[in-house]
Amino acid sequence: MATPFTKVLIVEDNDGDAMLVRKMLEGAEGQHFEVTRAENLSEATKLIGVKTFDAILLDLSLPDSHGIKTIETLYALVPKIPIIVMTGLSDETVGLNAVQKGAQDYLVKGKADASRLINSIRFSIERHRSLLEKETTVTKQKAKVITLTSYKGGTGVSSIAVNLAYTLAHVVKKKVLLIDGAGFANHISILLNLTPKCNLADICKQGEQIDHQFLSSAPTKLGDNLSVICGLLKTSDFYDINPALVKNFFEMVSYEYDYILIDTKAGLLDELNMLAIQQADLLFVVSTTELLSMRDTKFFIGTLQEFGLAEDKIKLIINREDLDVGILDTKMAQKKIDAQTYFALPNDWQLSVKASNYGKSVVEVDPKSKLSIAYKNFASKIADSNLVSFKQESGKTEVKQEKKKGMFPWG
Ligand SMILES: Nc1ncnc2c1ncn2[C@@H]1O[C@H](COP(=O)(O)OP(=O)(O)O)[C@@H](O)[C@H]1O
Ligand SMILES: [Mg+2]
Repeated sequence: MATPFTKVLIVEDNDGDAMLVRKMLEGAEGQHFEVTRAENLSEATKLIGVKTFDAILLDLSLPDSHGIKTIETLYALVPKIPIIVMTGLSDETVGLNAVQKGAQDYLVKGKADASRLINSIRFSIERHRSLLEKETTVTKQKAKVITLTSYKGGTGVSSIAVNLAYTLAHVVKKKVLLIDGAGFANHISILLNLTPKCNLADICKQGEQIDHQFLSSAPTKLGDNLSVICGLLKTSDFYDINPALVKNFFEMVSYEYDYILIDTKAGLLDELNMLAIQQADLLFVVSTTELLSMRDTKFFIGTLQEFGLAEDKIKLIINREDLDVGILDTKMAQKKIDAQTYFALPNDWQLSVKASNYGKSVVEVDPKSKLSIAYKNFASKIADSNLVSFKQESGKTEVKQEKKKGMFPWG
């Protein structure tokens, strides 16, 4: 296999010096260099804009920039490309100074032979790469995975997944990936009026090495902050799901988002559900205040604990809180289920169904409603953001109904 070219940009106004360096690099044995020369800083800046380089050899005394300022300017412009400074014999201290300002190394002209030059380029590229990797891990935070689930169906898991994802993305301004992990129902794309583009089966078909371009373009985008992986569509999708590859996908995208929300189908004994539960930093178990739901939730939480799931990850969410349903209000529900409530969402069937039929979040359809305010406070609580707590104002906002254009193009 041919050795790839190392692309080097020489920024040097002196023809003789530039020629010497070019000869040393192009004559190197076993290494291939592709050399480009700029005569001054402004020419270098233009070239950097149109070509990619692995390293830059920089003379500090140029017609349009002089001394330490030259490295400062270039480093600010291209912090991702290693820069090696070339100095004259008399200014070695300038070389050291340049290293403090971001250069990877310095070479004294006339003193550096071909092997010193080539080694300096190789080590600078490696050192710079590992430095960038370390910086990325330190500064980038891993996404928090929130899995939403329930034992009994119809408690509002998908509705909460959609509305929470929407509010976290568009109100709290976090980067959110919403994954429909509920099989074939495709409720997420219907609730958000999206045309399904990519699902977990498509991702598994990519294998272990998923192309970066694919990872960023595959999800369906809803504004700048919300990306969606839709549900399964074809019978064969079911057989393409491989939990190990789904897990690998979670790992690969975990630095791209602040939150990954996973909607699951009701129940437990499903490979994908189990994976989504295992991966969760927060597991939202949704219950209504109906006796059947509370019974199931109590059983479910108990079983999850038996499975060894850390107690502090399990968060009880009460949906459709309604103090007008006999004795079974939230406090009573908490007692029945034997768990602390993390958040309770009010009952608003009309708005929920309206939002679902519009293919919009409740926050868009009626931002002033009690349910929307609750979603905003719920999202703020999760993000631990300092947003002032949202209070209900009077009045309703009417949104004109738009035609569905997603899965079911109702005419
Ligand atoms: N806070 C709420 N108040 C009233 N109805 C709700 C609320 N949340 C969800 N719903 C309704 O409950 C039903 C079931 O919701 P869904 O999200 O499909 O539940 P699941 O995913 O748990 O099966 C839907 O008709 C939905 O509109
Ligand atoms: Mg659902």
